[in-house]
Amino acid sequence: MWCNLCSVRVCFLRATEVNKSFAMDFSGAMVWPIGCCYHRTPGSFLDPEMRAFLEENTEVSSSGHLTPEIRLRLLTPRCRFWQERADLWPYGDPFWAIYWPGGQALSRYILDNPDAVRTGSVLDLGSGCGATAIAAVMSGASQVLANDIDPIAGMAMVLNCELNNVKPFPILTKNIIDTELDNWDLIVLGDMFYDEQLANSLHPWLRKCSRTHGTKVLIGDPGRPQFLGHRIHGKLHKVVEYSLPESTRQENNGLTSSIVWSYQP
Ligand SMILES: C[S@@+](CC[C@H](N)C(=O)[O-])C[C@H]1O[C@@H](n2cnc3c(N)ncnc32)[C@H](O)[C@@H]1O
Repeated sequence: MWCNLCSVRVCFLRATEVNKSFAMDFSGAMVWPIGCCYHRTPGSFLDPEMRAFLEENTEVSSSGHLTPEIRLRLLTPRCRFWQERADLWPYGDPFWAIYWPGGQALSRYILDNPDAVRTGSVLDLGSGCGATAIAAVMSGASQVLANDIDPIAGMAMVLNCELNNVKPFPILTKNIIDTELDNWDLIVLGDMFYDEQLANSLHPWLRKCSRTHGTKVLIGDPGRPQFLGHRIHGKLHKVVEYSLPESTRQENNGLTSSIVWSYQP
């Protein structure tokens, strides 16, 4: 089957749900969220079988996207599951195996403008492959948290951090939208406005984070209709627009550019 966000073939429907939320530090130790804190538990989370599965079914890519300096394990046409039967994939849809145009633009912007994150704290919400969190670390952010509700994304991010030799950062797989947050300097969201219900829950929460803590919010989006038609769009200021590489255009139904927006409630 095909992903409804782009034209990437997604053969992954049989979800063996991994329900438990967790956070990991880079060493693979589990870090459990308690309120706004993290409690570390010893032991390696990324077991060798899972590592082998992810390594076998992805390809290390550093071309075809906007940040060639970041290497990522992604699903490519050379991977078995690009064509394989959906019911053979044992997990939920692997959004983490695609580097979305919104995340690409955010990461490019952060790498080119390290002052946007340097010495500050950054929350990457809906981090997927983790590229934007990795860009924030590379640009000198003092504290980075990657958050994605898909636990497999968390595991893929561990591999992607290793690939890029970046300083460890925690990864949290609990849904934190609507929860009280710590005082983050910056929240970044790449391609998170693809679904109306998700957008409707994100908007008031981002407004609250912004008004309560003065948190800055940057959104990367290639102009998806769900985003352009959402009321948050009236509260955005365009920061920069990037032309997308050809392969990203092809995988995203011909979208040609991706924009970084600053949210100003
Ligand atoms: C389209 S992908 C974007 C990934 C990444 N930001 C990028 O641009 O490459 C959306 C991601 O958001 C995650 N997601 C969906 N709902 C979420 C939620 N409520 N909290 C955190 N992550 C969520 C999905 O698992 C998926 O990895």
